[in-house]
Amino acid sequence: MQHQEFQLPTQSRRSSMRSRLSAFVNRLLAAIGYAIVRIDDKRLVEAKTFAGVDFAYDNLYLLDTYAPWITDEDFRTVWEVASRNSLTNTFRSYELYQCVREVARIPGDILEVGVWRGGTAAVLSAAAAKWKPTAKVWLCDTFSGVVKAGVYDASYSGGEHADTTQTVVADLLSSLKLTNASIVRGVFPDESAAALLDAKIALCHIDVDVYQSAADIVGWLRPRLSSGSMIVFDDYGFSTCKGITRYVNELRMGGEWIYLYNLNKHAVLIKR
Ligand SMILES: C[S@@+](CC[C@H](N)C(=O)[O-])C[C@H]1O[C@@H](n2cnc3c(N)ncnc32)[C@H](O)[C@@H]1O
Repeated sequence: MQHQEFQLPTQSRRSSMRSRLSAFVNRLLAAIGYAIVRIDDKRLVEAKTFAGVDFAYDNLYLLDTYAPWITDEDFRTVWEVASRNSLTNTFRSYELYQCVREVARIPGDILEVGVWRGGTAAVLSAAAAKWKPTAKVWLCDTFSGVVKAGVYDASYSGGEHADTTQTVVADLLSSLKLTNASIVRGVFPDESAAALLDAKIALCHIDVDVYQSAADIVGWLRPRLSSGSMIVFDDYGFSTCKGITRYVNELRMGGEWIYLYNLNKHAVLIKR
């Protein structure tokens, strides 16, 4: 009797069959609102030492998470427009929006350093108009990109995010009928902080990507904060912004701040 020869699939055929099968299953699941996520994929997890400090990154899949931004109509109205001018996301923007509410009774203005095209600036201005109407909103940017990139900021060389102008930001604010903000051009604090005179600050959003800029801003802020004033650092936790993670972790050591990290790539520091 003659036996038909049975051939095992080659490695590449097996992997092509596996990906076609997986694409098929994912299409089926997507049609009913499900997905399979491989959460133990060690290739995506990073734990490395950089310039003497350990940094670990994991991929988080947050299921069934309270999401108040979905039903907050005022926020949604602003964010629908502002998000077109932002590099951040709904979760961090909503946190900023809510932080303004939290500092409503803390003396002082709102400051953002790192405005780019004005997305988070518009969110802060809208929140201030609603909850802190006597506060001014200071929006400070070089409008020529990131400055002071150094050894702790391996992903930056300077000049990133220069694709904006003051007019872009002013147009966004006026399209949302926001009139409580002043746009200030120049490296902060070196060239532009004088415009703020002796303003006290209740909330500062620092979105400048690199270590030294953040450190200089906090140096300027310190005597202008009250107990309960907040600093929100964007970039905390991005594997490309290790300078910011390093700086915030250094700040924590002094005991001057209450520190919060809620996994959305913001660090929030509250002045004790
Ligand atoms: C990531 S962008 C800001 C994004 C913005 N917050 C948004 O809504 O997505 C960073 C900005 O920081 C600005 N920047 C960095 N360092 C600065 C400094 N020391 N003074 C003023 N602006 C600075 C850059 O020009 C750039 O526009």
